[in-house]
Amino acid sequence: MRLDKFLSAAGLGSRTDVKKIIKRGRILVNGKIAERPEQSIDENNDEVCLDGEKISFKANHYYELYKPDGVVSSTREGASTTVVYLLADENVKNLSPVGRLDKDTTGLLILTDDGALIHNLLSPKKHVEKEYVVTLRDEISDDDLKRLENGLDIGDDKPTLPAKTIRTGEKEIHLILHEGRFHQVKRMLKAVGNEVTALKRIRMGGLVLDESLQPGEYRELTEEEIGLLRS
Ligand code: URA
Repeated sequence: MRLDKFLSAAGLGSRTDVKKIIKRGRILVNGKIAERPEQSIDENNDEVCLDGEKISFKANHYYELYKPDGVVSSTREGASTTVVYLLADENVKNLSPVGRLDKDTTGLLILTDDGALIHNLLSPKKHVEKEYVVTLRDEISDDDLKRLENGLDIGDDKPTLPAKTIRTGEKEIHLILHEGRFHQVKRMLKAVGNEVTALKRIRMGGLVLDESLQPGEYRELTEEEIGLLRS
């Protein structure tokens, strides 16, 4: 396997990031300073160290799914109705969705077996942005958009955090949140007297839904995309 691929898979960053690390002479392969990112290594037997610390190889798997309507995000329900079932051909153990979308919500869902990344993306402290296309029952006023943006009481202990809105149609807005409460978008719109008739997530952090996918289709993330999620 190529050294840069190995280092990137081990979580040291994108291929560009790891090239820089190699250039600085921080990587030793079997005690010798590595000079070429394309150098071939045996990931099972060679000893690779960063700044003197051994790097262990743990290949994780990363996918984006265009979640279709009617499928649940939980891993627990009857197998054939969950998002994980849609990726069953991949034969990857411990694959989990990064957060949940409601059964009738469509769009971007990341699935991975990288627990640290899941933790980071969902941590309330990290404020990872989630962008939704929200189709509404009724036209929405500028005042109501302001209320969504300022944060409002949806029946929890605290009001919602400030959000961004973009009006994209008579009855359509983009809503950008950086928290992820249960049914949050639907509850926010209910709190301003409206109703969500369709909900689609199109972005999580720096990762935008690949619109060349059809609902129900998925693909592996590129190293660059994984880097975007890590940064
Ligand atoms: N907010 C909702 O109300 N539902 C989702 O699926 C995601 C965000």
